[in-house]
Amino acid sequence: MPEDANITPWSVSGDLTESQYQRIAHEFGAKIIDSEMIERIRSVLGDVHPYLLNGTFYAHRDLDIALEDLKNGKKVYLYTGRGPSGKMHLGHILPFLFTKWLQEKMGAHLIIQITDDEKFVFRDLELNDVARYTRENILDILSLGFNPKKTHILVDTENAGLLYNSAIKVSRFVNVSLSKAVFGFQDSDNVGKFFFTCIQSVPAFMLTEHTGETWRCLVPYAIDQDPHFKVSRDVLPKIGMPKPSSIISKFMPALKGSGKMSSSDPNSGIFLDDSPTTVKKKLMKYAFSGGRDTAEEQRKYGANPDIDFAFNAYRLLEPDNEKVRKVYESYRSGAILSGEMKTLASDTINSFLAKLRENRPKAEELFDSYKFSFDKFS
Ligand code: TYM
Repeated sequence: MPEDANITPWSVSGDLTESQYQRIAHEFGAKIIDSEMIERIRSVLGDVHPYLLNGTFYAHRDLDIALEDLKNGKKVYLYTGRGPSGKMHLGHILPFLFTKWLQEKMGAHLIIQITDDEKFVFRDLELNDVARYTRENILDILSLGFNPKKTHILVDTENAGLLYNSAIKVSRFVNVSLSKAVFGFQDSDNVGKFFFTCIQSVPAFMLTEHTGETWRCLVPYAIDQDPHFKVSRDVLPKIGMPKPSSIISKFMPALKGSGKMSSSDPNSGIFLDDSPTTVKKKLMKYAFSGGRDTAEEQRKYGANPDIDFAFNAYRLLEPDNEKVRKVYESYRSGAILSGEMKTLASDTINSFLAKLRENRPKAEELFDSYKFSFDKFS
């Protein structure tokens, strides 16, 4: 009997099946991205990302409003983020790859919040450890090649004054019982945790607040972050700010098929600094397979690609949807064996990671030009 999934920004438990994803979106109050919405995206952006077609980005809040504003030439920007608690894995990269595509199609500014304060408050980490991950994680993200003129990195502790002055306005409307209900906090949790969501809400309205002009905000993230934006959407109108829109993804499954990819267990996922040999070894040795026990059975009955780590990793990184579709069909029909699927995934991951390594010196060189400043928005 599958266990009901339970998701907060800090813990994920239970089986994340398709029906659980649908249930969670429904319970959180987000809408499912249907074929009509996909066509609306195509008509406004002129294109549709494979993550929309394959159901990876599957839910939204007021995406139609953001698209309408964009179509009408109003100010629309993107906002996403990362909590630097350790090394980044492939799953963390998923929303950034999608956000980069959105940014290019929309021609929009993007704020990337780095919540180093969050990781100090929620994890047993000292500020200097967090600072090390902050720099490393920012370089990982920038190695994806974000446009330096339109991408703005906002590190919480470096921009504390600016964030604090806006966050306190939100905090007036976030009470303890709401925080307990939405985030599952206990009486024994520290007060920093209760306040934190106010900080994460600020980039969703700071441009409107600072310029006095309405800037519609669209936030891409995986479903675990949705509780924050449920709160922001509830509170922001009460302080005279527009509600943010969001576009929400499923999780990239863990290497071993269940549990989270976590930096404390190196064999739970593929990390961005894994060497080509490590990537290959992890896939061959640990990757959860949707294939059959023997080659003979696999040829006869085929695999279940949806639950297969190698296929999911391949799908995450292969931009050609037609190629992915063919691999899906061949794997499902038994024409491709699990070992071949793992080799294909490991080659795809390794060429992606090689590109990131190649881009890293450029990211280091441009590091400062990505720093957040209100003067850069127009
Ligand atoms: P963090 O660092 O936990 O995660 C960064 C982003 O990655 C998503 N994510 C995943 N996506 C797919 N598969 C996975 N296995 C997976 N694991 C994590 C997260 O949903 C997130 O989008 N508090 C945030 C940082 C933040 C933020 C934001 C995120 C601040 N402002 C606005 C999104 C939008 C955090 O700790 O994310």
